[in-house]
Amino acid sequence: MADKADIHELYEESVQNVENEVEFLKTTFTELTGRTAYLFREDFCGTASLACEWVKQGKEFSAIGVDYDPSVLEWGRKNRVGRLATEEQARVRLIESDVQTVETPKVDILAAFNFSYWIFEERAQMLNYMRRCYDAINDDGVLFMDMFGGPESFEETKEKTKYKGFSYIWEQAEFHPITNHMQCYIHFKFKDGSKLKRAFSYAWRLWTAPEIRDLLLEAGFANVTVYWEGEDEDGEGDGVFTPNDKGEADLAWIAYIVAEK
Ligand SMILES: C[S@@+](CC[C@H](N)C(=O)[O-])C[C@H]1O[C@@H](n2cnc3c(N)ncnc32)[C@H](O)[C@@H]1O
Repeated sequence: MADKADIHELYEESVQNVENEVEFLKTTFTELTGRTAYLFREDFCGTASLACEWVKQGKEFSAIGVDYDPSVLEWGRKNRVGRLATEEQARVRLIESDVQTVETPKVDILAAFNFSYWIFEERAQMLNYMRRCYDAINDDGVLFMDMFGGPESFEETKEKTKYKGFSYIWEQAEFHPITNHMQCYIHFKFKDGSKLKRAFSYAWRLWTAPEIRDLLLEAGFANVTVYWEGEDEDGEGDGVFTPNDKGEADLAWIAYIVAEK
């Protein structure tokens, strides 16, 4: 089963929900600006699934995806952009570039999701990236990022989640408390016992919410708001994110951070 599996499909099934993300992006943008967002840029786009979902909203909607890995962009071109209607395909542009140097037309929304921007482990480098994001959006543009935290995120642990036909394993293999550097892996395990070990690997700094917030303000953003997830009756996350200025002392949490120019 591992030999036949496609790691990009498994990744998306495990960690991405692009329909919900587009819904959150478009509603939040309209709440903040009173208008509709049309031009969207997805940094660290990988397979560009989110960019593809964005353009499905209609013929006025376009997206730019930026990633520096030609192989993942190629996969996205074939398996995600290629599956859109021809007319929709024309509204997705994928750029092979480092997000730190890319130049694009000014966009309404810029998103950096699945913590990819934590690849910038030095403060100056992170600030420089955020300043570039600020310059890359329109005057009423909005930057969306996500983050995770809670005491469990500072531990060296493994967490298994079961999906149909396979398990997704998130491993925080190393954590260095002096720098907050972490080495994480995604592994997949199949019903027949076969495995895809270290299908994805991430070397990140575990940034905390107040650090990210302060950096975005320092980069020039006028308002920075954290959107915290609500709970269902069992105390599990309900997928509904609303503005919150305190959060909850959960063991593990995921939130969005939204920066207005
Ligand atoms: C965790 S994946 C994110 C995929 C997708 N955006 C998501 O939300 O799940 C990280 C991606 O960032 C890309 N990447 C990492 N550093 C980058 C950089 N400096 N510039 C452009 N792309 C980068 C990698 O090639 C990889 O495809």
